[in-house]
Amino acid sequence: MNEPIESTIPSLPEAGFVVIFGGSGDLAKRKLLPALARLRTEGLLPKEFAILSVGRSPLTDETFRSRAGRASQAILENLHYCQADYTPEGARVVDARMKEIAAERGLPLNALFYLSVPPDTFQPIIASLSEAGLVKEHCNGRGWSRVIIEKPFGRDLASARKLNADILPHLTEHQIYRIDHYLGKEGVQNLLVFRFANPIFEPIWSARHIDNIQITAAETLGVEGRGGYYETAGVLRDMIQNHLMQVLCLTCMEPPASLSPDDVRNEKVKVLKALRPLVLSGEDSDVVRGQYGPGRVEEQEVPGYRDEPDVPETSTTETFAALRCHIDNFRWAGVPIYLRSGKRMGHKGTQITINFKEGAKILFNALPGVVPPRNRIIFHIQPEEGILLELGTKRPGQSIRIERTAMDFAYREAFEHDSPEAYERLLLDAWRGDATLFVRSDEAELSWKYLQPVIEKWSTTSGKSKIPLYPAGTDGPEAAEGLLARDGREWVDFVQST
Ligand code: BG6
Repeated sequence: MNEPIESTIPSLPEAGFVVIFGGSGDLAKRKLLPALARLRTEGLLPKEFAILSVGRSPLTDETFRSRAGRASQAILENLHYCQADYTPEGARVVDARMKEIAAERGLPLNALFYLSVPPDTFQPIIASLSEAGLVKEHCNGRGWSRVIIEKPFGRDLASARKLNADILPHLTEHQIYRIDHYLGKEGVQNLLVFRFANPIFEPIWSARHIDNIQITAAETLGVEGRGGYYETAGVLRDMIQNHLMQVLCLTCMEPPASLSPDDVRNEKVKVLKALRPLVLSGEDSDVVRGQYGPGRVEEQEVPGYRDEPDVPETSTTETFAALRCHIDNFRWAGVPIYLRSGKRMGHKGTQITINFKEGAKILFNALPGVVPPRNRIIFHIQPEEGILLELGTKRPGQSIRIERTAMDFAYREAFEHDSPEAYERLLLDAWRGDATLFVRSDEAELSWKYLQPVIEKWSTTSGKSKIPLYPAGTDGPEAAEGLLARDGREWVDFVQST
């Protein structure tokens, strides 16, 4: 059953460097280094490579290695450390260190720079690398050079545009890899395969057959000590502008001309361009926000958002948002796409639900009490990955009773391997020079442009009473139910593949 249908065996990346700015930080320790270690264990990295962590603390290679943690054992001897700041002088120190290591290890000077640092340092680091000649490809003995930029890419339309404008003089677009870790998730990548490798679905993937689409990313966690950061973000910036908008694009885009990075990204851009401006107030408002108050999550009492460290008592930052979006193109005219995401909700999981239209009210509907359920396809992205096709089925018995049943596909059962972590795939792709799963400048800007009016509206209200509270451990504020109820719909509960 599980015969692999792979058209290409992924090529090994070329020997070279991964240079991580912020390599002694939390993301590197928890995600990046373990991802690289797993890639190495799976034989997906070149024989020779070096990982150079750049930071301001005075560490030696040995101390850095000893801090790397058990999950990074497989790459321990490839790890190096270099103390440097983010100035051109610092970049020259990095350059000298790379050349030293290259000579020791016989490595070419190919470089994948990873900016795992606060966003206000993206521009100075790139400018310094550029001034020191480190991002000039194929010059002075250098090979290729690419830069992965961690999120957030801007905090509104103006800052995203400025960041693009500030870095584009130093790098060409093909060197820039704006990361969105949702694109590295197996279930998200499968959206394209599901839609375009299974021709039975294409004819029904439109307003003709689909009533509405729902994309939910719910978390049970709170802000986990990141109150300071979260106060500057909120769920709209933290989850919706990037992760959920990307999922929306992949769910709704037209088939690309090819799987090349630009063909795929061109189609996503067309979706973003076709989004109808959101209505922000009144009875027809498309937006709802909320903030968690104290409550119970997974049997534990938890404090409200305003009681979290570094959060002011008067905060109006949204920890929950729901949006009703419309894509004004031929395929999707009239189909609402509901997005919602929140912290401290009653369950944890990301799910995309395609709700099909009702059948004609004839035949079975004519029988008293028999209402065939609507068909649904549910993509589970996490925690377990799977796809559910819900059907109406005759309940065994002497009369006709129709019940909702599910054809349930769980990755865990169908494939022997656990899915790779998102960062594994993304690091490998960037190292191989494949930008398909990274966000292009126009995508980032268009997504901000769409949400900019909401950002502005929400940032101008202040005072506690202005944001509805929802008890931690629930599905968000009541208004989120109202958003769908007005349309005669309701949110589909989180259903987990079995
Ligand atoms: C990050 C956000 O981008 O995504 C976090 O900054 C959020 O606030 C996280 O918790 C969710 O990612 P995942 O992979 O756990 O769904």
